[in-house]
Amino acid sequence: MKILGIESSCDETAVAVVEDGKQVLSSCVATSLDLHAPFGGVIPEIAARSHVEVIDRVAQDALTQAGIGLSGIDGIAVTYGPGLPGALLVGLSFAKGLALSLQRPLIPVNHLAAHLYAAQMTDSTCEPPYVGLLVSGGHTLLCVVESATRFSILGETRDDAVGEAFDKVSRLMGLGYPGGPVIDRLAKEGIADATLFPRCQTKQALDFSYSGLKTAVYQYLKRDASYDKARVAASFQDTAISMLVSRSLKALKRTGYSTLVVGGGVALNSLLRKQLCEAAQKQGYHVVFAKPELCSDNAAMIAGIGYELLKEGRVAPLSLAIEPNLVLGQEVW
Ligand code: KG4
Ligand code: ZN
Repeated sequence: MKILGIESSCDETAVAVVEDGKQVLSSCVATSLDLHAPFGGVIPEIAARSHVEVIDRVAQDALTQAGIGLSGIDGIAVTYGPGLPGALLVGLSFAKGLALSLQRPLIPVNHLAAHLYAAQMTDSTCEPPYVGLLVSGGHTLLCVVESATRFSILGETRDDAVGEAFDKVSRLMGLGYPGGPVIDRLAKEGIADATLFPRCQTKQALDFSYSGLKTAVYQYLKRDASYDKARVAASFQDTAISMLVSRSLKALKRTGYSTLVVGGGVALNSLLRKQLCEAAQKQGYHVVFAKPELCSDNAAMIAGIGYELLKEGRVAPLSLAIEPNLVLGQEVW
């Protein structure tokens, strides 16, 4: 079964064709990143306008690369939340137009669930249940993935997302947007000082908090104008990532599962990959990271999980509305 996936929740306009949930026939992404970079973050209006301008072309490319016409599509999967309202509206409206004209089912996808499904598309032997760690620019959470489409939350961030912290620290140091890849690279040139920034405590053992760390970096930079950028990057990254590693291991221990899957843009972080793999090897756990092209926002993961949803009959009428604040495990459909 071939599913066309559409993703437009933030600054990436993406369309993909995936067969039977796993075989990626095409995955096209156009980003409006360059338009947002001068502002140090995503500007919702610019993102929405850019989606309108390119979505048709991206869809054409995805079909051409998959070597099929619209009539070869069995269902239209689309991100309906969470995300920027204007941006989501563009993808959903486009999807509805296709579903109506082709008379194919409209499959509503939770963007967060799709990030976690990306691990299953990477490693086909990886079957739920297991623990999921979702780390992106908008979300940081640990959950039990009960099935490809069912989740229960174990803990989440009380304030900033980890990717957001990377972006904000990068901006404070004048390193540009998005901050994750820049800090990851720069950190390799510095030596982390574990005493430089505090490790945040949270009331719930599996929750996260990143706003205190961000403020600590801000105050440090203000105190010493001649700071060593690589040392700050390495120390910030070390503190931010160690919080993810310690909570993930705690979640595995607490739930009794032996597999951890990691998805979202921050899953690209080299220190996170290294530390989780080392810890897992030592403690006998299995860690699966989504492959790099499935970590940051893409539509292959939307089409992939769309197939699982369609099998469960989870399709929506054309009155489907966007859900900008959609939560994992509380899908409307
Ligand atoms: O999943 P994603 O593409 O979009 C959201 O759904 O948010 O994640 C984007 C986030 C950004 O905050 C970006 O700085 C971060 O992922 N990121 C990284 C790395 N590459 C991207 N963070 C840390 N290390 C990286 N190598
Ligand atoms: Zn995302």
